[in-house]
Amino acid sequence: MSSIKGCIFDLDGVVVDTAKYHYQAWKRLANELGFEFDESHNERLKGVSRMRSLEILLEVGGLSFPQEKMEQLAARKNEWYVEYISRMTPNEILPGSKELLEELRAKGIKLALGSASKNTPLIMDRIGLKDHFDAIIDGNIISIAKPAPDIFLAASKAIGVEPPCCIVFEDAEAGVEAAINAGMRVVGIGNPQVLKRANLVVPNLKNFTFQYLVNSLSEK
Ligand code: BG6
Ligand code: MG
Repeated sequence: MSSIKGCIFDLDGVVVDTAKYHYQAWKRLANELGFEFDESHNERLKGVSRMRSLEILLEVGGLSFPQEKMEQLAARKNEWYVEYISRMTPNEILPGSKELLEELRAKGIKLALGSASKNTPLIMDRIGLKDHFDAIIDGNIISIAKPAPDIFLAASKAIGVEPPCCIVFEDAEAGVEAAINAGMRVVGIGNPQVLKRANLVVPNLKNFTFQYLVNSLSEK
């Protein structure tokens, strides 16, 4: 009998391919501020809060601004980002994630979404997956962002599953750290070199099944 009773999914880069829209909007801001920002820098922005992302971006550009200006820059990036995600469709759900959610629910596993994004409600409306989750915890509910464990702990509480029985699905290094800090096991989605602390790393969720999860974790 498996100890897995709950699964917590990150949103950006796990359920939907919004990481590319975050990147486009940050790159646009960097270019406007007069410096280049590429995919290698972008990895550090994944999973962390909007303001922390801006701090990292400005570090790359060697710039610093007072708090008020920082708020304006973050708001400007968010306007562009919202413009991009407002046009999203259910076609942008990443391959395998909907099928996995449906399989897990059929097996009686409790499901939560755990994202730092304040735009979670808009994205969930656009892709129509709200009913696939028992609880949705996002950046509007918990403002202490990953790698702090708070988002995942709130998600585990909301679905009534203790952390050791929760599995987190994450594409970001900060998210993997957050899951470990919460006392949970974690499936990394993406590059094993970046997500090296995850219990298991897969390139994507295509053909990922509950049985594969159980087998892979018990081998560790
Ligand atoms: C995370 C993304 O899910 O949400 C980060 O991985 C992003 O890149 C963070 O900065 C906050 O998102 P938002 O939509 O509130 O700016
Ligand atoms: Mg993510």
